[in-house]
Amino acid sequence: MIYLDNSATTQVMAPVVEAMCRAMKDSFYNPSSLYAPAVEVEQALTAARERIAHSLGSRALRVLYTSGGTESNNMAIVGALPRDGRPAHLVTTAMEHPSVLACMQRLETQGHRVTYLPVDAQGQVEREALSQAVGEDTVLVSIMQVNNETGAVQDLEALGRIIHGRNPRTLFHVDGVQGYLRLPVSMPRLGVDLYSLSGHKIHGPKGVGALVMRDGVRLTPLLVGGGQQQEARPGTENVPGILGLDAAVSIFETQGEEFAFHMRGCKAAFLETLETALDGWQVNGPSPETAAPHILNLSLDGVRGEVVLHALEEEGVYVATGSACSSKKRNASHALLAHGLSPERALSSIRISFSPMTQRQDMPQAAEILAHAVQRLRRFRRK
Ligand SMILES: Cc1ncc(COP(=O)(O)O)c(C=O)c1O
Repeated sequence: MIYLDNSATTQVMAPVVEAMCRAMKDSFYNPSSLYAPAVEVEQALTAARERIAHSLGSRALRVLYTSGGTESNNMAIVGALPRDGRPAHLVTTAMEHPSVLACMQRLETQGHRVTYLPVDAQGQVEREALSQAVGEDTVLVSIMQVNNETGAVQDLEALGRIIHGRNPRTLFHVDGVQGYLRLPVSMPRLGVDLYSLSGHKIHGPKGVGALVMRDGVRLTPLLVGGGQQQEARPGTENVPGILGLDAAVSIFETQGEEFAFHMRGCKAAFLETLETALDGWQVNGPSPETAAPHILNLSLDGVRGEVVLHALEEEGVYVATGSACSSKKRNASHALLAHGLSPERALSSIRISFSPMTQRQDMPQAAEILAHAVQRLRRFRRK
């Protein structure tokens, strides 16, 4: 089996499994309880918070644990609305993940105004449009760090400068689910106020993530309940999940650069073979070198991405079409359409995504399998 769907999810690394098992066996106490073993669990959660804050550029950042990227994105967006219920203006882009777009669409039905910024063929947010969109009543701008389908990387510093130049009170939220620990981020330096991350994209567990906030940012909580996490996100913390996430973060802390280098090498090796083995294909979005290290999106002339995916599956190679959450819908990916692709080209696309656990020596074979599958399907179509 060659697993090339690491943007959908990643395999949990062994030290993460060990940390989670230890947490379940030995650290089962409720972190809010008052006796010593429970206090130790609370201290472990605090240490994990400090590690995440440090990884994003400052120990002063506030880290709220959540159930993952979807909740973090919802919390940032809904939590930024004015407390008095007056209608607000928000800005996002046409290529965001559904956990941002659907949230924005719901707010529109509730009387709020949303501007959806266009992106160019490389997936870059149009800066002039951003500058024009942000106004007096703009409470939040939400832009993803790395697009989950094409790997387009934003220049967050430039975007942050435009946003805060137009309105210093506007919150800049970044969906960092695909970018976290794959690309360096310093929230204070980039002017990012809120940052979403998710455990299962970095070889940690599913169902855990965080919303990281600049000190001083106040959001209205999505949930009400007990006083956990200073009432900002009540609910007994997912201790094994958080300690698993912490283990994943600590692995990337020391090996992050090496991992990025490895993933770029896998991508290059895959493309090198594909270039000689197949014609009639294009890279979608930014060039493979400028895209995030782990993502490669290809259009394959004359075949449908979904059919290719299943042909590869028969050979033990797992890839994706569009994003996993929307891959059961047969429409062309909204993100690829936003990048300016025709519906036909978008439907002929597959996403290949690498990880530090991808075996580089498998890449020529994976590319050969793809080339043969596409050639077979094209012959079949011509009959
Ligand atoms: C860019 C992006 N944002 C948000 C999410 C949602 O994260 P989670 O699966 O942790 O809810 C994903 C997951 O695919 C994603 O790729």
